Amino acid sequence: MEIRATDTPRVDWTGDALALGFFEDAVELTGDLAQLDQKLSGTLKELIEESEFKGSVGNSAVTRVGAGSSVRKVILVGLGKSDALTVDSLRRTAAAIARMAKQQKSKTLGISLPAANNDAALSAQAITEGITLALHVDNRFKSEPEDKGAKLEQVELLGLGDVQDAINQANAIGEGVILARELVAAPPNSLTPMTLAQTAQDIASAYGMTLEILEREECEKLGMGAFLGVAQASEMPPKFIHLTYKPEGTPRRKVAIVGKGLTFDSGGLNLKVSGSGIENMKMDMGGAGATLGAAKAIGELKPDVEVHFISAATENMISGHALHPGDILTASNGKTIEVNNTDAEGRLTLADALVFAEKLEVDAIVDLATLTGACVVALGNDIGGLWTTDDTLAAQLKTASEKAGEKFWQMPMEEKYFEGMKSPIADMKNTGPRAGGSITAALFLKQFVKQTSWAHLDIAGPVWADKEDGCNNAGATGFPVRTLVNWVLA
Ligand code: BES
Ligand code: MN
Ligand code: ZN
Repeated sequence: MEIRATDTPRVDWTGDALALGFFEDAVELTGDLAQLDQKLSGTLKELIEESEFKGSVGNSAVTRVGAGSSVRKVILVGLGKSDALTVDSLRRTAAAIARMAKQQKSKTLGISLPAANNDAALSAQAITEGITLALHVDNRFKSEPEDKGAKLEQVELLGLGDVQDAINQANAIGEGVILARELVAAPPNSLTPMTLAQTAQDIASAYGMTLEILEREECEKLGMGAFLGVAQASEMPPKFIHLTYKPEGTPRRKVAIVGKGLTFDSGGLNLKVSGSGIENMKMDMGGAGATLGAAKAIGELKPDVEVHFISAATENMISGHALHPGDILTASNGKTIEVNNTDAEGRLTLADALVFAEKLEVDAIVDLATLTGACVVALGNDIGGLWTTDDTLAAQLKTASEKAGEKFWQMPMEEKYFEGMKSPIADMKNTGPRAGGSITAALFLKQFVKQTSWAHLDIAGPVWADKEDGCNNAGATGFPVRTLVNWVLA
């Protein structure tokens, strides 16, 4: 499918489906719309009246136009109040339009939507993301694809001016999101640490990046006892993935993105019971998936920023080799950890990954992890948690996430709560009390970053969607690839 900008006026557009956005209480056919309605023999007026279309958010109507006309179907979508229009509501509207066009079996689609915030480029980016992501279906594991039939082939954005660069950027980001979704959705018997490493290899080859995969022995040499402790019961060899993108000239800044990469989290001997979501713990590599998704988009977009993409990938399994609850592990910075709960494994893998990232002397480290159920309890399924002690980094990430339409809420780095992580025998335990569970997890991670500007994103909720919403379909969302890419590009 191709999306492009055109300066064809909407009255003159020809094709299968023409989508028109209307503000609430401003559903009037004046000016060029009166002309268009006349051209379509009054279809617009009739559709507005018959469907009682008022232009409110979520309101839509579709009809077929008589044979021989320049447009076969018209789609009306409500945009709500004009002063409440946001870039994200355009993204959601575009997703809705794309779904309707698909249902109508349209091959060509023209979209006439206003720009939000007077920013045509950002609006085009959001509209493109909305279309691409809403139409993404994952048929890899079906013996027969479910959505046979006509496919949308061409989309034209009308009236936004020359926004082709923004569309291209959105396409690159969209591909990254889709890669992340497909990695997260892949079942744990098909997506293993090896597959993640192979995906990193594919990205490295496609975009001329460098890739370093540390095998178990090399991780041992680096003293990554926390990561390897988690990995020790798995039949699958762990892979420590370090993919590096370097721009051609001198980089404007250097950053590291570190993603939790648990291709399956059984909980270890603190086994997850049924009802705890064990059957969906393939998504516990959502951080790594988004990291690689961002890497793909960065490879396409080639910003003047050096980016390190890191993941300590493994499974958390049980066997005679499994960690015992109570084991003490030594991480690569020399700190000792009493593992009082083997299900708090993500932070153990991240500990060594963060120590590794800091050695790269980057300007900032962002980690992202499906880290705690507590974060889901606190913020629900749509909002990620953000922890940082660096206000500048917090502001950058908030701007990037707002632009992306991916929600984060900054959470407190309440040092006092680290008392709950004190161990009588080691430097710390890996879990504290139930209360404040997502905060103590962040404080645990903080022990492994000395001085580099760092932020932690807990994405346990939004990495997965139970039902279709906006540009997300049910299943893996690819959260927060868009935020990460926007942050790197900013
Ligand atoms: N991968 C889970 C967190 C998770 C829970 C992700 C629900 C997505 C949905 C993580 O490894 C985990 O098990 N965390 C424990 C920590 C606890 C033992 C302190 C949790 O949240 O229950
Ligand atoms: Mn766990
Ligand atoms: Zn986990």
